[in-house]
Amino acid sequence: MRSFVIGGAGFVGSHLTDLLVARGPVTLYDNMTIGKTEFVSSHLASGAATLVQADALDLDRLTAAMAGHDVVFHLAANPEARWGLERPRLDLEQGTIATWNAMEAARKNGVSRFVFSSSGTVYGNVSEPCGEEDLGSLPISLYGASKFAGEALLSAYSECFGLSAYICRFGNVVGPRGTHGAILDFCKKLKAHPEYLDVLGDGRQAKPYLHVTDCAAGLLYVLDNAPGRLAIYNLAPPDTTSVRRIAELCVAASPNKAARVEYSGGTQGWPGDVPLSRIKPEKLAGLGFRVKHTSDRAVELAVAEVAREVFGG
Ligand SMILES: NC(=O)c1ccc[n+]([C@@H]2O[C@H](COP(=O)([O-])OP(=O)(O)OC[C@H]3O[C@@H](n4cnc5c(N)ncnc54)[C@H](O)[C@@H]3O)[C@@H](O)[C@H]2O)c1
Repeated sequence: MRSFVIGGAGFVGSHLTDLLVARGPVTLYDNMTIGKTEFVSSHLASGAATLVQADALDLDRLTAAMAGHDVVFHLAANPEARWGLERPRLDLEQGTIATWNAMEAARKNGVSRFVFSSSGTVYGNVSEPCGEEDLGSLPISLYGASKFAGEALLSAYSECFGLSAYICRFGNVVGPRGTHGAILDFCKKLKAHPEYLDVLGDGRQAKPYLHVTDCAAGLLYVLDNAPGRLAIYNLAPPDTTSVRRIAELCVAASPNKAARVEYSGGTQGWPGDVPLSRIKPEKLAGLGFRVKHTSDRAVELAVAEVAREVFGG
């Protein structure tokens, strides 16, 4: 299997590459704005993977680089949902247009299989756990809207051009080599000023946290086992973990265990943040895949892993 991973030098992409190299040659297409060579250096050194440093917005370059591959994994996106508040075009370009470019390059190259990293943010602000068919409520962030648009485009490409489309809606992914997210953010803040940790919101926001190893394994499971030409699966544990719990674990893993946690208040971390997100994993479980780690366990593991990276030791 010749794999083409857009955003392959990033957090999820590098863990996915750890698995893909056993299946055949892997091309990582990454503009390296967030991705790091060190995340994939062993695969580059062994020759199992090659890196093309280029932008998904460059359709000609993307199309040329994709030639000769069997499957595309599209993982590139704006990494922080809240950045859309200050740069409202960001998700249109890095989300919707980059995703369309990826599909168009696949169509031009006759690549028949396309895996898309979507997100639970497509479900919007709903208090009940959401299954794949629950889209009564629409996204509330520009990031979520761009994922939703990407899914719709993929459905159309699947129908019009025969592309086999595999959409996975992730929970919040955590683990080593993180490039963003609450755990990394909290650990970095505690390193910069060990006496206190300021946290957006009241700490009661709770989300399903997915360990990155479960995320990479789930993506491949869907690719290998999903029936039909358009497959949509939630990829998340059934439980959630609160921001308060994450903050406490990060303080406990930091050099100053007495650091005080200061909450900015309010139910949302920022406008567009979904305060309580729950995603039903039953459809993917029905296909035969269950994540190894609950949300609480994924967070515990990830705090230890990220703390080692940030604080050393
Ligand atoms: N991490 C999460 O919690 C989470 C949750 C839900 C969905 N997702 C989705 O999963 C995917 C991977 O997330 P991640 O956490 O690994 O993010 P990441 O930022 O670590 O990885 C994305 C990679 O894409 C690259 N990239 C960004 N824009 C690009 C462009 N225009 N052209 C080429 N390369 C570009 C970056 O350099 C980076 O290496 C993203 O699509 C993200 O929206 C992530």
